[in-house]
Amino acid sequence: MAYFLLIIFHVLILLSLLCYKSFLNQNVVKNHPDGPHRSIIILVWHWPFSRSYSLVGDKCLKMYNISHCLLTDDKSAFSAADVVVFHHYELSRGLSSVPLHLHRRTSQYWVWMSLEPPVNNVNLTQFNSLFNWTMSYRHDADISIPYGKTMLGGDKLSFPAAPNRSCFASWVVSRYRPEQTRAGVYQSLKNHIPIEVYGKWNKKPLPDKKLLPTISNCLFYLSFENSEKKDYISEKLWRNAFQAGAVPVVLGPSKATYEAVTPPHSFIHVADFSSTADLATYLKDVSADRLVYEEYLQWHNTHQIKIYNDWRERLCQICVKYPSLPAKKVYHNLESWVNN
Ligand SMILES: *[C@@H]1O[C@H](CO)[C@@H](O)[C@H](O)[C@H]1NC(C)=O
Ligand SMILES: *[C@@H]1O[C@H](CO)[C@@H](O)[C@H](O)[C@H]1NC(C)=O
Ligand SMILES: *[C@@H]1O[C@H](CO)[C@@H](O)[C@H](O)[C@H]1NC(C)=O
Ligand SMILES: *[C@@H]1O[C@H](CO)[C@@H](O)[C@H](O)[C@H]1NC(C)=O
Repeated sequence: MAYFLLIIFHVLILLSLLCYKSFLNQNVVKNHPDGPHRSIIILVWHWPFSRSYSLVGDKCLKMYNISHCLLTDDKSAFSAADVVVFHHYELSRGLSSVPLHLHRRTSQYWVWMSLEPPVNNVNLTQFNSLFNWTMSYRHDADISIPYGKTMLGGDKLSFPAAPNRSCFASWVVSRYRPEQTRAGVYQSLKNHIPIEVYGKWNKKPLPDKKLLPTISNCLFYLSFENSEKKDYISEKLWRNAFQAGAVPVVLGPSKATYEAVTPPHSFIHVADFSSTADLATYLKDVSADRLVYEEYLQWHNTHQIKIYNDWRERLCQICVKYPSLPAKKVYHNLESWVNN
């Protein structure tokens, strides 16, 4: 009996391998303009920060309802791939490299991917004239993948009522650098209002399942980005503040940038105040009037936040955008684009 099962098992593995191979082969067929819609093959050259995800089955279809989009991390699919995606962190540290030794079809697109702000994208010059498309949180990237976005329809989130919250404001920070703007604002602001600090810096790390409940107990959350760069709005706003139902006090790109992507009346921007004392006074005033405070949470009835945090979902988005991506493009000066 055991033998029998073992044989069945092996046959199944063999069959699935064969199916996969023939699936790949089918897709090698050149794009027929009027033929059946073929799949786009996307090769992830290496996984971001060395954390791999399962690609078994048609993940884009099954998880995100995106059809004809095949993700693979199998390097042997290189010659068949329509798009090869390179995550910058590993390239810049020499943990992975671009396959210059392999023959690259002229119709194959290489994507430079990074969701980090410019300050974290080091060692760029060696990658000039290699990539056709960029993938970043920036709106002007070829494939723009924000950390989160605002959608219509109220959310079903529930938080402690304002009078029941025992914490005025909190901040989670792992990499504190005194020279960063946010550090200066925090140091000054904490003289005027109580701020509970969590994270690696303060040696009070919050495990994932404690993060939102902890922040939910606060009226305000400091969504302070580590750098104030074009379009850079991270999960510090989308997840930490919005999903926890704390009113975000934001430091990052311009107020107009935030307004363009967030729900109405949903944040307080540091740049609106001439001093941290003024900001603190405003926060105290808001907290003192329950109706004024709750106006900042009204949007939860009409809007909801979608968060992107699975790399597969981001990668599947390439297929959605593929038909409208520039057909001929090369980034000759990647560094200047990144730092722009
Ligand atoms: C999946 O996508 C198709 C077309 O792209 C759409 O017609 C269908 O409603 C979607 N299904 C779900 C469950 O969203
Ligand atoms: C940049 O590349 C050089 C070698 O090419 C390497 O020594 C250095 O560590 C890299 N920088 C970072 C921050 O990884
Ligand atoms: C505040 O907390 C108390 C005790 O946990 C609870 O009974 C009450 O319903 C809460 N008030 C509001 C307005 O949610
Ligand atoms: C993609 O970039 C490569 C390398 O710079 C270039 O040779 C190729 O022509 C580009 N492909 C397209 C379709 O623009």
